[in-house]
Amino acid sequence: MENEFDFPVEPYRIKVVEAIKLLPREKREEIIQQAHFNIFNIRAEDVFIDLLTDSGTAAMSDNQWAGVMLGDESYAGCKNYFNFVESVQHIFGFKHVIPVHQGRVAENLLFSVAVKSGDFVPNNTHFDTTRANVMHKGGTPVDLIIREGRDPSSIHPFKGNMDVAALEDFIITHGKAKIPLVMMTITNNTAAGQPVSMENIRSASTICRKHGIPFFFDAARFAENCWFIHEREPGYRDKQPIEIAREMFSYADGCTMSAKKDGLANMGGFIALNDDDLEQQVTRLLILIEGFRTYGGLSGRDLEAVARGIRESLDPDYLRFRTAQIKYLGDKLVEKGVPVIQPAGGHAVFVDAGAMFPHIPASDYPGQALTVAIYREGGIRAVEIGGLMFAQTDPETGREIAPPLELVRLAIPRRVYTNSHLDYVAHVCGRIAEKKRQLRGFEIVSQTKYLRHFTMKLREKTQAGIGVGS
Ligand code: F0G
Repeated sequence: MENEFDFPVEPYRIKVVEAIKLLPREKREEIIQQAHFNIFNIRAEDVFIDLLTDSGTAAMSDNQWAGVMLGDESYAGCKNYFNFVESVQHIFGFKHVIPVHQGRVAENLLFSVAVKSGDFVPNNTHFDTTRANVMHKGGTPVDLIIREGRDPSSIHPFKGNMDVAALEDFIITHGKAKIPLVMMTITNNTAAGQPVSMENIRSASTICRKHGIPFFFDAARFAENCWFIHEREPGYRDKQPIEIAREMFSYADGCTMSAKKDGLANMGGFIALNDDDLEQQVTRLLILIEGFRTYGGLSGRDLEAVARGIRESLDPDYLRFRTAQIKYLGDKLVEKGVPVIQPAGGHAVFVDAGAMFPHIPASDYPGQALTVAIYREGGIRAVEIGGLMFAQTDPETGREIAPPLELVRLAIPRRVYTNSHLDYVAHVCGRIAEKKRQLRGFEIVSQTKYLRHFTMKLREKTQAGIGVGS
């Protein structure tokens, strides 16, 4: 449904509604203070527009809900498992399909059997659970994204690409024996949801095959990646997303998948792969920690929702709207003077809070200043992707080393919010941009060693650097 107007219009209508409420400003102020300025501590019902994540937050279609009613909850061999396998094979083509309840379990199972202490796993950029699961097995995750992918203002059509020359160098330097697999994350979530080109996938696959190293996708947002290839890569204009997906997966030996993204489901995931021996090893562990081979931690109705959702995610009308809607928000923000990473990604707009608040030093977490401000100003929840999430500690001085960018991610749930909601988000961010000099940074009151952003408590700084409102 290509329309002649230059704005994205939703290719669906609304059959069920869920009320959301914008609390009064004083109430929002009380809530953010009680949450110790950590948005993970806020109750979802106190949020007006929730852009914390696009994971597990999709609106299911009438077709999926109808499928839910056909859930077969038999312990072994439920019919929904076979539908699930058929759908995954229809798109991905791999020989074995192992259901799990979400993406990180797929990672954990795969790395448990493939990665040993001292190994390296190259990736364009690891997502944080992928990184953590490699490290948990004693491996070292290695990010090999292209240079343009690290530059917020570079307009490259495939900023998520892997630096394939660096990949080959890495393999030659460290040796095949230390590299049990190479991963490719499509789209590249941590690198602002940027896509990877087919050419890059083909080159990475050729290198892996030449050196006899298995090549796997982290396929959480594979459908959005297919659409970017359709739109931006020469030779793919006339190809349907399903054809692009099949070509893409033909270059790999398997994938891990969180179906909470492009599965258009609220829960689910899988490992799909060709190797019989690996399948056996993963299955043994699956039964130990996740469930029997034909349900893998999911109910029959969840399996059916994924079986249907994953096919819907490749609908060209849906994908055209989905990617256009993200761009729509990105463009609106730029109009309002809010700096965003260019071009817009497939599932989220990333605001460059460091550039937006030059008066707040990285050590005072400008990303958090924006995250708190958009809740205060408009009841919107987003997530800081900057120093709070990714700072490292200097082993000598014990001081924090800030990551290169202070970002805030506005992740857009699939089929949930209308463009009018996004106009509101842009309006709120624009209001903050107008009074940005008034915003202050934050300091940490308490934190944990790992994944501190989920549980930390913060205090707002005064102009003089003295905390208030803890
Ligand atoms: N891989 C990627 C690229 C992801 O973005 C995620 C999750 C996972 C794996 C793990 O999947 O949550 O089903 O266990 N990303 C979410 C996010 C949490 O907000 O970006 P999961």
